[in-house]
Amino acid sequence: MRQIGWVVVAAAAVVSGAACRREAATAPRVALLLPESKTARYETQDWPHFRARLTALGMKPDDILYGNANQDPLAQRTQAEAALANGARVLVLDPVDSDAAAAVADLARARGVPVVAYDRLIKGTDAVTAYISFDNERVGRLQAEGLLRALGGRAGASVVMINGSPTDNNAGMFKRGAHAVLDGKVTVTREYDTPDWSPDKAQAQMQQALTALGNKVDGVYAANDGTAGGVIAALKAAGVSPLPPVTGQDAELAAIQRILVGEQALTVYKAIRPEAEAAAELAFRLATGALAPAAVANEPAYRARVDNGRARVPALLLEPVVVTRANVKDTVIKDGFWKTADVCSGDTAAACRELGIP
Ligand code: BGC
Repeated sequence: MRQIGWVVVAAAAVVSGAACRREAATAPRVALLLPESKTARYETQDWPHFRARLTALGMKPDDILYGNANQDPLAQRTQAEAALANGARVLVLDPVDSDAAAAVADLARARGVPVVAYDRLIKGTDAVTAYISFDNERVGRLQAEGLLRALGGRAGASVVMINGSPTDNNAGMFKRGAHAVLDGKVTVTREYDTPDWSPDKAQAQMQQALTALGNKVDGVYAANDGTAGGVIAALKAAGVSPLPPVTGQDAELAAIQRILVGEQALTVYKAIRPEAEAAAELAFRLATGALAPAAVANEPAYRARVDNGRARVPALLLEPVVVTRANVKDTVIKDGFWKTADVCSGDTAAACRELGIP
């Protein structure tokens, strides 16, 4: 489905290019390549905000190329090649595989096209112009600190850890941050990486852990809201009651609703709009020649440096915020990330009234 979407976008670009060849030859194009669509943020936040900002800056929809790789690093490479062939002057790349994407970045550079690593770092290459993300180790720390609080400081509590995809550099950072907080304070009884960040695989792993542990689990570290959904489904199916505290990340609508009804302890809210808009603005300036790739390092917003194993990449790192039942109102609602009408329906209506939302 998504791949068909990509083909249509690319075909439309080709058709319009033929229709107004002179304009197509001069109009700068940018491409956004996202990694997957099982996690809600990409199609509902990243892509729409990125596109909206570029449109506001005056770019035509046909000049904004988009691909979603649906977890497949080869598909992502093909999408990058198609974007380059279709005249992209900047690639904004959120890699499925942080290591494999180095070859894509090198390919772009060979064509003189700057690459912006979006949300996930591209490792092992000096062909990355900038990195835009959150402080990802801090995300892991916030998740773990929230879990400890939800466990009420119970010494020796047993925790199952369901981490993210082993090919995603962020997943390693979340895990590292979480371990730095949890180790020595709780017992990690089972720990898994989740291929592709797949909620189904997270559910199967949790099921396996519950069987092995005879359903004894005091808390679960789930690296994002998609995997948290799988974990909670497994806990319910195994008849674990009351549910132990479960963490998450992304402030997905389903997770906010689970938090309100008490099924999930917390999520980590990352304001995706400023992330996507910063990427759009940088891509626009690079594509139009207003900013040279080498000059990004002097931009005050890109003061930070992130080591990708090959280079110190100029980086913009935004701050994540932990969200529990107590601050849903003052975070995601106040920010307009979710509207009251989205959040407060059906089962959550009573909790919303109790918490004074709106
Ligand atoms: C992102 C998370 C997302 C996960 C799964 C990570 O790299 O930072 O926001 O939930 O990938 O796609």
